Amino acid sequence: MSPLQDLIKTLADEHGRNRRNLLPILQGVVEQEKYLSEYSMIEIARELNLSTADVYGTATFYSFLEHQKMGTYIIRVCKTITCSMKGKNQILLTIQDMLKIGLGETTSDGKFSLLQTNCLGWCHKAPAMLINDEVYTELNHESVREILSQYLKK
Ligand code: FES
Repeated sequence: MSPLQDLIKTLADEHGRNRRNLLPILQGVVEQEKYLSEYSMIEIARELNLSTADVYGTATFYSFLEHQKMGTYIIRVCKTITCSMKGKNQILLTIQDMLKIGLGETTSDGKFSLLQTNCLGWCHKAPAMLINDEVYTELNHESVREILSQYLKK
């Protein structure tokens, strides 16, 4: 059994092999692997006795379930209206300039991926972004540079 099959089996044991347990299992795989490969989806379908189309449909519905290999740090800049009005584009440009990557790309050292996301629930402190599970709010050019500099040192 491959390590991935092992992981899926463990997650299925933990959450149960029911259709309604699909999401936590998908999340568990993303947490470990940083993304959901086609192979993972096929294996999850097999383990839960679901169709691959069913697993794929659920996986693609949620924007937090990545389908490509992601960097160690996944930056998600909120693209929803309040953040857009409060300078989200400037935040994106600052990040792109510092990391030399475009939206949807990963740095060549595999450290950072840059994505946009829907509202993070921090509209009152827009613009906001997530780096992995950490929320950063009231961003501006300087604070973003400062935050990223800290991550670049890690
Ligand atoms: Fe960006 Fe809500 S609109 S956090």
